[in-house]
Amino acid sequence: MVPFLDLKRQYERMKEEIDQAVQGVFQRQSFILGDEVRKLEGSIAERFGAGHAIGVSSGTDALLISLMALGIREGNEVITSPFTFFATAGAIYRLGAIPVFVDIDSGTFNMNPDAIEAEITERTVCIIPVHLFGLMADMERITETAKRYNLHVVEDAAQAIGAWQRMGKTSSYAGTIGITGCFSFFPTKNLGGAGDGGMVVTGDPIISEKIRRLRVHGSYPKYYHQMVGLNGRLDEIQAAVLNVKLKYLDGWTRKRREHAEYYVRLYHEAGLEEFGVSFPTEPEGFYHVYNQFTGRFPNRDQLVEFLTQRGFATAVYYPLPLHLQPCFALLGYRKGDFPQAEKAAEEALSLPIFPELTRSEQERVILEIRNFYEKVE
Ligand SMILES: Cc1ncc(COP(=O)(O)O)c(C=O)c1O
Repeated sequence: MVPFLDLKRQYERMKEEIDQAVQGVFQRQSFILGDEVRKLEGSIAERFGAGHAIGVSSGTDALLISLMALGIREGNEVITSPFTFFATAGAIYRLGAIPVFVDIDSGTFNMNPDAIEAEITERTVCIIPVHLFGLMADMERITETAKRYNLHVVEDAAQAIGAWQRMGKTSSYAGTIGITGCFSFFPTKNLGGAGDGGMVVTGDPIISEKIRRLRVHGSYPKYYHQMVGLNGRLDEIQAAVLNVKLKYLDGWTRKRREHAEYYVRLYHEAGLEEFGVSFPTEPEGFYHVYNQFTGRFPNRDQLVEFLTQRGFATAVYYPLPLHLQPCFALLGYRKGDFPQAEKAAEEALSLPIFPELTRSEQERVILEIRNFYEKVE
């Protein structure tokens, strides 16, 4: 058996620290917006050189509150990728705005910057690039287009905490380039909590203050409401766990990158290329944090069945692109509109890549994949 993700291995290595941190919250009996949340916000802002960080209840709410803070509303159009987790487009739609999809780049699974301009109309107000699987979308080109048309950029960095890319002479972390950047602390993320959690980062003090108010129902001062927000706070228990885990994040990321490198070596040794399999690559100037290690596999669904039967867990992110989701039928998209996203939905498969994965487990995964393709040949 090789699990897709084994959080128990991580917990066993840090049980005492985590248990102590959680106990501390119980001892203080302060559960909402206390010292742990403030500490985490300070650490995240400092770690990534973001001016402000605001803890929120999930990555989904990080997106929603960002869009609310920017005043996005009914009739506005927001451009994003059709090949992402549902929350990206869900947040747009919930505000009455219209998700406008552009196809992805076949090499990176990220939004194709060349496809954006054609979709811009007088109703377009924002672009949400998604840094899928831990690799940043091409922010240099996306921000250049956004500037030309005076559009906001909200980064969906839910899967990409710690990723960076070179921009001109410097490099920038995921989440720190757009007007806001949105992180998720869902347990499967590179920095995962013990439940739901998220964070918005922004360099803009006015947006930051708005987000702080929006996460407490738009209240300021308490019980006075200039705007309508939501209950969107990060809680103390989550923040306590995340404060412990944050110091391990860089080490875990390095492990993920080592695993990715080893997979690529095994891929060549096993001759998987001959079977039409392709593995992810890291474009020049980008630092991939491999929240997922997602390749393309012919006969993907049969392969998944073959692997599952033999005790090898994998995951399909994502089987149906967002433009074809039943709830978005009234947006009027059809099959064939985004061929790259549709192809990715048929071929993409993620292999285990959590930090505690062993080399022998990786070897067994690759061997089993090779066995499958030898059989179907
Ligand atoms: C790309 C992307 N966007 C948004 C989210 C939403 O985050 P959350 O699950 O914390 O609400 C996720 C994660 O689940 C995600 O992967």
